[in-house]
This record gives sequence, C-alpha cells and structure tokens, in this order.
Amino acid sequence: MALDEWLVEELGFGPVWVRRGTHADAVPAPAGSGEAPIETQPAPVRAAMEAEPVAVENQADTADARAPEPPVAPDDDLPWTDEAPSHAPAVTVDVPEDIDALDWATLSERVAGCERCRLCERRTNTVFGVGDPEADWMLIGEAPGENEDKQGEPFVGQAGKLLDNMLRALSLSRESNVYIANVIKCRPPGNRNPEPDEVARCEPYLRRQVELVKPKVIVALGRFAAQSLLRSEGSIASLRGQVHEYRGVPVVVTYHPAYLLRSLPDKAKAWADLCLARKTYADALAALGVEAGADKAARR
Ligand code: URA
Repeated sequence: MALDEWLVEELGFGPVWVRRGTHADAVPAPAGSGEAPIETQPAPVRAAMEAEPVAVENQADTADARAPEPPVAPDDDLPWTDEAPSHAPAVTVDVPEDIDALDWATLSERVAGCERCRLCERRTNTVFGVGDPEADWMLIGEAPGENEDKQGEPFVGQAGKLLDNMLRALSLSRESNVYIANVIKCRPPGNRNPEPDEVARCEPYLRRQVELVKPKVIVALGRFAAQSLLRSEGSIASLRGQVHEYRGVPVVVTYHPAYLLRSLPDKAKAWADLCLARKTYADALAALGVEAGADKAARR
C-alpha cells in the first residue's frame, strides 16, 4: 500500500463508510426519486466533528453504521486514557549518585537488575528502551504492558503497531532513527497505573537515557508520560498543541496509542501533534544551522 493511502486509512482520514441514510448529516434524496440520502460532509470532517467516537467501520464491503469498534487485543486493554487520574510525581526518593555518569551498557545493566521499587517482584523482564541510541526523536510512553513485559521491548502490542505506523508516516522507525522508552521500566501488575513513588524511583533512568540520546524532540505519549515529564497535572487537552521542555529538550504531547485504538476522532488530533513535533524538530535543526538531511555527526 502506498504511504499516502496508508496515512488516509491508518489515521482515520479515509472514507468512513456509513449505511446510507443512517448518519445525522445525511439529507433526504428528492421525494419519490427512490434514491438514498446524500452525505453532506466528507467522512473525515464528520468524524472529527463527532463528540463521541462513531461506531463505523473503514471498510466499504462491511459497511454498517451500527457495527462495534474493532476488538482490541487483550494486551492493549490498558487503563491509559485521558480520564486517568493525575500522576505528577509527588514524592522524593534517593537517587543513585553515579547515575548521571553511567554509559549505555552500565545503565541498561542497572535497569535489568533494578530492585528500587516493588514492581521488580512480579516482572518477567525490565523494558529498557529500543531504537537508535543517537536518535533525534525520542518517544516516551508510560510503562510496559503484558507483551512488553514478556518480550522486554516497549510497544510491541497493537498500540505499538499503531505507533510504528504513525512513525512510518513521518519516515521514522524504531529500527533506524527513533528511540522509544517508557517512564516506568517494569510492568505494573494488572496494568494498573504506576504509583508516584514508583515513578520517582524509576525516573532517574529515563533522565539519563534522555541525556545519552540527546534528542532534538521528545514526543510524550499519553497523559501519564506527559504529566510525569512535565511535572504537570494538566489534561492532555490542555498540554497538547504547545511545545514544552524537559531538561532543555522540546516536548510535544500527544495521545497514547492504546487510547487512539479506541478513539477514531482523536487520531486526527494525534496526527496534528506529530506534525507539530516535526516542525519543532525542523526548528531545532535550523537553530543549529543544520540541514535536515545532514549526517548524524553534523546534527549532534
Ligand atoms: N504502553 C506504554 O506506555 N508503553 C509500552 O511499552 C507499551 C504500552
């Protein structure tokens, strides 16, 4: 499938097929014409205008306005929605003194053997991070889910597939030019929200990862990551659309991909967020006097 076709489909800009006459925007066909009512708005505009996700499918051959949303794999049945409670870390914990001097290998070993909080008791694997350790783009999620815990890699479930597809639309990928990590490195049991002390104990690892990667832009995925990074209690709605900062690195906030799997209209907003991140990245390169295509040595 061509990239533009994929974009249209994956991000929900594609035709949203609705049984004729069942949508609120449909106007009746001329009386006696025997024809079906006509839709007045392009489907993506309609979708974005809906306050609630519309129960429609993206496939012409299974058009049914009453069809339920496609089922989401159980591993992504996560509590990470915009309605989740606030998570600004409010506790102070001891921070290992040497953490700011650790190199990648030692930092990753330190995380693999970490027992700084109770999450170590039930984990299968720690989930350190994946991608280019010198990437210009860094994406930060919340915490591993079941599959991530099993495989030791962030975002490997359905939400991860969506994330990879969104990255692909920007010519980015975890295999080449992005680094992906979570605020929390161990799976919270039952995918519960991490506790403030767990965040506080794990945060030094992420902080060091950011120092080592030296990204030009960070994308915070979901309210939890955004609130933790920005020390904010703001909603996603209030944090989106602006460029924030984490230790000198610009941060753009967007929805968590697991949330996007359930909310069709917000995919369009997520795409707008990624476009803001792309502009922020271009601005960062321009400020350094570096061409977008310049090799890595010139960019760092
Ligand atoms: N959700 C996250 O925030 N991180 C993952 O690694 C997987 C799901």
